[in-house]
Amino acid sequence: MTALPPGPTGSALSQTLRFSSDPYGFLKSAPLEIGDPFTFTMLGEGAMVLFSQHEHIRQIFALPRKNLRSANETVRFLLDERSIVFLEGEEHRHARKVMSTPFSGRTLEGYARSIHAATVHELSGFADDALVPLHTAFQHVTFDALLEAIVGVEEAERFAALRGHLLSYVDGALTPAMFAAAITVGPWLQRHTAKAVAAKSATLRAGGAPSAWGPLGSRTSTLARCAVLLHELVQERRESDAQGASVLDRFLQRPGPDGSPVADHDIVQELLTLFVAGHDTTSIGLTWAMVALLDHPEVVARIREEVAPFMGTGPDFAGLARCAYLDAVISESLRFYPPSPLVPRRAEVDVTIGGVQLPAGTRFGPNIIGAHFSEAAWGDPHVFRPERFLDEHPSSAFVPFGGGHRKCLGAAFTRFEMRIVLARLLTDFDVTPGPKHSRDASVHGILIGTKKPLKVQVRRRT
Ligand code: HEM
Repeated sequence: MTALPPGPTGSALSQTLRFSSDPYGFLKSAPLEIGDPFTFTMLGEGAMVLFSQHEHIRQIFALPRKNLRSANETVRFLLDERSIVFLEGEEHRHARKVMSTPFSGRTLEGYARSIHAATVHELSGFADDALVPLHTAFQHVTFDALLEAIVGVEEAERFAALRGHLLSYVDGALTPAMFAAAITVGPWLQRHTAKAVAAKSATLRAGGAPSAWGPLGSRTSTLARCAVLLHELVQERRESDAQGASVLDRFLQRPGPDGSPVADHDIVQELLTLFVAGHDTTSIGLTWAMVALLDHPEVVARIREEVAPFMGTGPDFAGLARCAYLDAVISESLRFYPPSPLVPRRAEVDVTIGGVQLPAGTRFGPNIIGAHFSEAAWGDPHVFRPERFLDEHPSSAFVPFGGGHRKCLGAAFTRFEMRIVLARLLTDFDVTPGPKHSRDASVHGILIGTKKPLKVQVRRRT
């Protein structure tokens, strides 16, 4: 049997604790201390070989899709098994085709006004010198920003209900406690959730109120409420011969990979996936960008100068799109603080990466944080220096959105949104760190966020 590369000393439990208490520190130091690649053994999930050199990451993302399966077991606690994240082969290809158009290319320009309006609305609640929980504010904006692309324009009242339930589901899910549950009983949690949500959805449809009793009771009740609202929406659109360009409409307009209409259940799961995948990732990304910017007033000054000509009350979004420095700041903050650290694959056949043999069945993937802090790729990786993105860099050393046939569907959308939100916030407000400000990170479900909620002091600029 081929031996896997060495890993950190200690049991799976101690490795998992080191990872979860200091994810960035652990994944930065492991390749330097142990070697590259190294084998990380996570409790409940088993061994995973992690590669940090960009040439090896390029090889991983270039592997033919038929030789790989998604191995992101940690996500099971969060999403149904019919989510795109777990689909393979033709089903996966079909779902990506339907779901990617509303999040790419020229389509994005159509969302600029609503993203800006959602940002202005949220910022209008900031009082001078108030201590603002920035991540929560970003969560509101990022949820609203997704609505048009995912379900199209709808009545405000229905969206308000959906927003409330989804935010509370995601908030309850992306916690250190749920990370512990995810890695120990993830597949069980996925089956239990699917059963409970089906039963509770039936209760809701019959006009009843599902019980929120038990440790997971309120979580599954909340998810059932989201599912019922989305099911209603799917049915109404199906009956009204959906003509829109949202993901929901596109699913209704196209037959599934077997030629028959895609089942309502599957459409609802993809809509939920997009809300979950697109919402807190972006709000955490924005939060980390602000953590970095609080340390770098000179970068803030340069952003303000660059965006000023385009940020009147009716902004010039085309001008904003040309702001190369702002774009470089977004890249540098995603390099410095990548919210999503691991994107494991499982080999279906024996594969070799960088001369290391991985027998069929091995879990492996890029160490995104290791790649982002590789001295060979970046020279001075520990310095926050957006200018580096105005120069050449090896593209496979910058992989905050993963890569290959599973690369994040929302990468362009997120960057587009972050540009508008940061430009508006920094144009309108001076932002300073609140008391007990910290840059410490911890694992939130499947993402890496700030250990303590980021609170900042704001003052409107005149
Ligand atoms: C800062 C924001 C975001 C980050 C850091 C991020 C990161 C990621 C990563 C690392 C993956 C896994 C890629 C792989 O396995 O190679 C992923 C997948 C995915 N992301 Fe994102 N994401 C972000 C925003 C979004 C947004 C806004 C959306 C939706 C609009 C979205 C939708 C998805 C979907 C649907 C997948 C699954 C793709 C598949 O399995 O084929 N993400 N994302």
